Amino acid sequence: MRSQVVIIGSGPAGLLLGQLLTNAGIDNVILERSSKEHVLSRVRAGVLEEGTVAMLEEAGAGRRMRREGLPHDGFDVAFDGKHHRIDLFGLTGGKRVMVYGQTELTHDLMDAREAAGTETVYEAADVAPHDFDGDQPYVTYRKEGVTHRIDCDFIAGCDGYHGISRRSVPERAISLFERTYPFGWLGILVDVPPVSDELIYCNHRRGFALCSMRSTTRSRYYVQCLLDDRTEDWPDERFWDEIRRRLPEDVAQRMKTGKSFEKSIAPLRSFVAEPMRFGRLFLAGDAAHIVPPTGAKGLNLACGDVRYLFDGLQEYYTGKSAAGIDAYSAKALSRVWKAERFSWWMTTTLHLFPETGAFGRRIQEAELDYLVHSRAASMALAENYVGLPF
Ligand code: APR
Ligand code: PHB
Repeated sequence: MRSQVVIIGSGPAGLLLGQLLTNAGIDNVILERSSKEHVLSRVRAGVLEEGTVAMLEEAGAGRRMRREGLPHDGFDVAFDGKHHRIDLFGLTGGKRVMVYGQTELTHDLMDAREAAGTETVYEAADVAPHDFDGDQPYVTYRKEGVTHRIDCDFIAGCDGYHGISRRSVPERAISLFERTYPFGWLGILVDVPPVSDELIYCNHRRGFALCSMRSTTRSRYYVQCLLDDRTEDWPDERFWDEIRRRLPEDVAQRMKTGKSFEKSIAPLRSFVAEPMRFGRLFLAGDAAHIVPPTGAKGLNLACGDVRYLFDGLQEYYTGKSAAGIDAYSAKALSRVWKAERFSWWMTTTLHLFPETGAFGRRIQEAELDYLVHSRAASMALAENYVGLPF
């Protein structure tokens, strides 16, 4: 079999790239290790930058998001028992974000792909990219005991942090940058109306808390927890007690509680692989970089990579120029590192780091006070939060 582009992974990066390629008449196949149901069972952040929203629309998969997504013009930063609104719209000259769950977005992209009749192989085992250093790369995989081979022009490694694409690159050709954080996020989903119309990011001496949402009737809440905590350590009552203790009193008092139907703990990590291109293999999304969830940049960064990669591939096929794909890695990394910086900074500013002691705590207090009382500092936060331009 032959395809112009083989995409490994059907997360948001792979699906969005695939849809844009299909619409441009560039044939592609997606090879996904898991089942469709498994891909759709993963719960992740849900704040979309305007650039991400525009790309979904460009891909023809934005209709439900426009209908059901919640546009947000600001969010709150809470500390020291008070909350302060960051007016995204006012501070950025009219930009906003869209709250729409990543699971829904993935669903919409899968539906669009099915409607277009483009091939996705789910439960593809032992996917392996080959010969991407030369001019005739190919990808092999196993399905129901049979080994298949797809010859192609390019391979897009959109297979996330644990994928095979990055690991197929010889060690000497790749540089890895990493920072881990000494805590995790415990998140729950619960069918009660969100405590506020907008998100609340809260710094507290007991640890960070975040009030987010999936809809006007479904809340997504998080608390900073220990890395070795297990969900069994956190029955709902403990979760509600803890988040209420961390939030400003007025918020805690009006918070509606209920039985959670999803509960998970995620570690926090910053990670970048350089470069993002190896001959005819491109890395995009979590395969190349991870950000801690504070600021919700993961999905948006993946879409930024897809922007550059799709534009480059289109230029290659229709404009007969390799300039776009040659510039891909440098352009993507320049944007990636800015989002890495921002996510690291938001994480550092809002979480409890016991090891930094009283000095660290005072610095954090000064940072937060400056952030909400200086227009310049609030603008920098807002500009990064709504997303730097592509
Ligand atoms: N072979 C085929 N598919 C694979 C392999 C493999 N060896 N390894 C992983 N995959 C699949 C995973 O099952 C997953 O469906 O690749 C997909 C990667 O998807 P994501 O992890 O969602 O990564 P990405 O598309 O880059 O998404 C970026 O969305 O999922 C979030 O946290 C992520 O916010 C980030 C953003
Ligand atoms: C979420 O809704 O899951 C969410 C929102 C904002 C973040 C992180 C996660 O910064």
